[in-house]
Amino acid sequence: MCGIIGIASNKPVSINIINSLKKLEYRGYDSAGIATLKNNLINEKKCSGRVDELEKILFKSPSDGNIGIGHVRWATHGVPSILNAHPHSSENVSVVHNGIIENSDELKMELESKGLKFKSQTDTEVITLLITEALNNNEPLESVFKTLNKLKGSFALGIIFKDFSDIIIGARRGSPLAVGYSNNENYLGSDSYALKSMTNKISYLDDGELCVLTKNEVSFYDDKKNKINKKIHIVSDEENIADKGDYKNFMSKEIFEQPITAKKCVNEYIDSLKKDINIYNFPINPKDLKKIILIGCGTAYHSCLVAKYWLEELTNIDVEIDIASEFRYRNLKFNDKNLYIFISQSGETADTAAALDICKKNSVKTCAIVNVIESTIARNADWVLPIHAGPEIGVASTKAFLGQLIVLYILILKLSSIRNEINQTTYNQKIENLKKIPKFLKKTLDLETNIQILAKEFLDAKGTMFLGRGSSFPIALEGALKLKELSYLHAEGYPAGEMKHGPLALIEEGLPVIVIAPKDKYFEKTLSNMQEVIARGGKIVFITDNKKKSISENIRFGLRVPHIDNLLSPILLTIPLQLLAYHVALLKNCDIDKPRNLAKSVTVE
Ligand code: F6R
Repeated sequence: MCGIIGIASNKPVSINIINSLKKLEYRGYDSAGIATLKNNLINEKKCSGRVDELEKILFKSPSDGNIGIGHVRWATHGVPSILNAHPHSSENVSVVHNGIIENSDELKMELESKGLKFKSQTDTEVITLLITEALNNNEPLESVFKTLNKLKGSFALGIIFKDFSDIIIGARRGSPLAVGYSNNENYLGSDSYALKSMTNKISYLDDGELCVLTKNEVSFYDDKKNKINKKIHIVSDEENIADKGDYKNFMSKEIFEQPITAKKCVNEYIDSLKKDINIYNFPINPKDLKKIILIGCGTAYHSCLVAKYWLEELTNIDVEIDIASEFRYRNLKFNDKNLYIFISQSGETADTAAALDICKKNSVKTCAIVNVIESTIARNADWVLPIHAGPEIGVASTKAFLGQLIVLYILILKLSSIRNEINQTTYNQKIENLKKIPKFLKKTLDLETNIQILAKEFLDAKGTMFLGRGSSFPIALEGALKLKELSYLHAEGYPAGEMKHGPLALIEEGLPVIVIAPKDKYFEKTLSNMQEVIARGGKIVFITDNKKKSISENIRFGLRVPHIDNLLSPILLTIPLQLLAYHVALLKNCDIDKPRNLAKSVTVE
């Protein structure tokens, strides 16, 4: 999604702005731009496409100036184009914006009725014109406050002013914004990762807050214009390591990193000496818990779905799951004996963050299972359980999904133990099984060579289906999501038992159908559903951990993952599906780390 950079320095800033914009590329974008300020002139350069293009433009025609803002745009209002790219500048002001101004049409009409003209189709340009108008009688900070009062929606802003050549103003409502500190240089950024090469000292703005940066100092204000102090966080080295090394792209690195991710995550939560799980400080006494509600978007939602099966198997706690964009608009009955768990890799997903806010307003207890521990969702939740996966750069979530599943499983196991819903021997056994995950993941990754061959079969496919029952159903959904987002091949995930209720009509000669059938209580039922697909010409890719099942001639391709504890099988079964999506996308020459139209951090609704 869109990304913001701002730098106030004692030396020219354009090269560092470009380098930082490159760090924001992982978020997904379609155009880029920069505005610098020199000799009371705003110098704006923009391009449609990649930051490399912008760099070439700057190479031919350098932008000087010790202060500047940069942006990568993910189109919301108006097509991706140079005109719609940010910054949006008037003669006096230049603005970069993340988020959506919901009343922009109304504001635009008001401004047009005063004779003002718009150059772009964006919602952002109203901010530029409103600040420009307000500047007639006011200082920059006052003009920004005045403008913000008129805006509805979500935003993070970076603003420079022609006549105030040493300041950048930043503002946040809904979309994240960070400030970084260095010697004779201060920064504004959509996330700390973008600032990593320049500083590890970071503050995070909260909703309603503003900041004024000069090269030597940063001041913060709340929404009532009071000056406030903000905590400075030292971003850990680990958060700063994000390099694809010898891998072709970040996604393959992140897929193959999963044994290490799992090991780190398990080590963080399992006390091997005490043979117990290190999870304390529950915001509600587990024995009093009435219900758990799990909320997330996309892949994170799929981890909620898997957790539902685990909660039902291991505890007597009621469970509900919801997609954050639905949850936030439902007419819910909140209960203070319920725990609301929010799952998010980035911790910045707008719908998930908004759903969490609703829970806070209703004074119920919240838990965040996140990768980025400094994120909005982590900071707003009552209780945080990090997944310790390290930076995930590929847009498609892989190692973070694994981390989410592991943390959810560990949490559920702990709840089950505290509530005396599991006997000690089974609890100990399940902890031991968790420790085996890294080794089994490594073995599962060895399937890559077979999957490379399998991927070729998908090149001419019109579409595909993923089928599973029980906890393999969310894995079917996840497999379909990965394949469609990476390779742009139409893919559907279904509970295998649901086929006869409609989707079976899609099966025709040669349609690839992936059947996920671990050795669990659903195994035989899934095989029957598979036969129904075979009878109609479906070309089966069969994925199992069942050593006894021979891969029969009716099955076009078989993949066997190691057998682990039945409950943990979704963790291993996901791996071949990630590899399949990856290799189909690779064969189709797709932009694997940055699939079209998608963003890593979905900071708009
Ligand atoms: C798919 C994918 C997305 C994210 C979703 C939520 O591969 O990555 O579906 O899972 O956008 O993002 P987070 O987890 O950051 O809230």
